[in-house]
Amino acid sequence: MKVAVLAGDGIGKEVTAEALKVLQAVVPKSAELEVSHAPIGGAGVAAAGDPLPAATLELARKSDAILFGAAGEPGDEKIPFDMRPGASLLRLRKALGLFANFRPAFLFPELADASSLKREIVDGLDIVILRELTGDLYFGEPRGITIEGGERVGINTMRYTESEVRRIAHAAFRAARQRNRKVCSVDKANVLETMQLWREVVTEVGTAYPDVELTHAFVDAAAMMLMRNPRQFDVIVTGNVFGDILSDAAAMLTGSIGMLPSASLGSDRLGLYEPVHGTAPDIAGKDIANPLAAILSVEMMMRLSFDLPEAATRIRRAVSKVLAEGYRTADIYQPGTKKVGTREMGEAVLAALG
Ligand code: IPM
Ligand code: MG
Repeated sequence: MKVAVLAGDGIGKEVTAEALKVLQAVVPKSAELEVSHAPIGGAGVAAAGDPLPAATLELARKSDAILFGAAGEPGDEKIPFDMRPGASLLRLRKALGLFANFRPAFLFPELADASSLKREIVDGLDIVILRELTGDLYFGEPRGITIEGGERVGINTMRYTESEVRRIAHAAFRAARQRNRKVCSVDKANVLETMQLWREVVTEVGTAYPDVELTHAFVDAAAMMLMRNPRQFDVIVTGNVFGDILSDAAAMLTGSIGMLPSASLGSDRLGLYEPVHGTAPDIAGKDIANPLAAILSVEMMMRLSFDLPEAATRIRRAVSKVLAEGYRTADIYQPGTKKVGTREMGEAVLAALG
C-alpha cells in the first residue's frame, strides 16, 4: 500500500498529521503500508519553486492512494494560474485524470444541533454529491483577462465533451446501485448549451440503468431543494462548478465543512482523498482546526482504494464514539460539550479505535 501524503498549506498540515496517525493505526501489519511525503502548494513553491513540483507529481503517479490536506495562500489569485499555490490541486486532479469526486454529506446524529438547519430537516441525512472534476469552467479554453475596446474582459469557457459527461454519469449510476438507487442530475439546461448536452447524455446513459430512478434539476432549484428537504436526494451528479458550490452548501447541513471527506477517482486504481475544506488561513497554526474530515477521508481510502471495509468501519465507529463522548472542535462546539483542539481530537479518535 503506497500512500503519498501531500499535506500542503495552512490547516492542511495539521489535519493531515492526525489523519496519518489514524491511517497507520488501522492498516493491518500484513498490508505493508509505505508512506511518503511530498510538498505541494505554497510548500511546493518553497521547496522547489513550483506549486506542483515534478517530483511530487511523480510520487503521486507511483502511489496507490494520495492523502491530500489543502493548498493555497491568501491572495494567491493574483499570481498566474500555473504558479498559483491554490491551483496546484487543480493541476494534480487534471494530471492524474481524477474526474469523479465523491463528496458524501451525512449527519452524525450527535451533530444534528450543530447544523444550520432544523434537526427534523437533517436527521438521518445521507447523500452523495458526485462532482465532475476535470472539465467545465475550471479547465475550458479560452480563458484569461484580455483587453477589448479599451477595457478589461474576463473570459472562461464552460465546456464538456460527450464522453466526459458519459463517464461521470456511469459513475453516478453505479454509485446509486450501491445505495438507494436514485440519481438527480443537476444542470442549467434551460440556459446553457453545455448543460443541455449534459442532460441529454445523462438521460441516454440512464437507459442502461432501468433499476435506478433518474431525475433532473436546475442548479438554482437544486440549491433550494437541498435546504428545504435534503433527504429527498441519494446521489446528486453535477459538473465541476455547480458541484463545488453545492458541496459547500451540503456541508452546512452536516454541522460543519470540517466534517466532510471526499474521494477523487479516475479510470485506474489511484485515488486522492481529501477533506472538502481548504487551508483556512485564519485558523492555521492554532491547533483548533477540525481533523475529522481528513480522518474520514482515510475511511474512504480504506474502502475505495484498499478494499479494507473493516478498517473503514473502525474509523467511522471511532469518530461516532468521540462525538458521542462529547469531544468537539470549535467549528462544531455546542455548550455542554467538551472543546478540544486538532491534536486532542486526533488523539481521541486514535484512542477510540480500540
Ligand atoms: C474544492 C476547493 C477547490 C475547488 C479550490 C481550492 C481550488 O474549493 O475542492 O472544493 O474549487 O475545486
Ligand atoms: Mg470548494
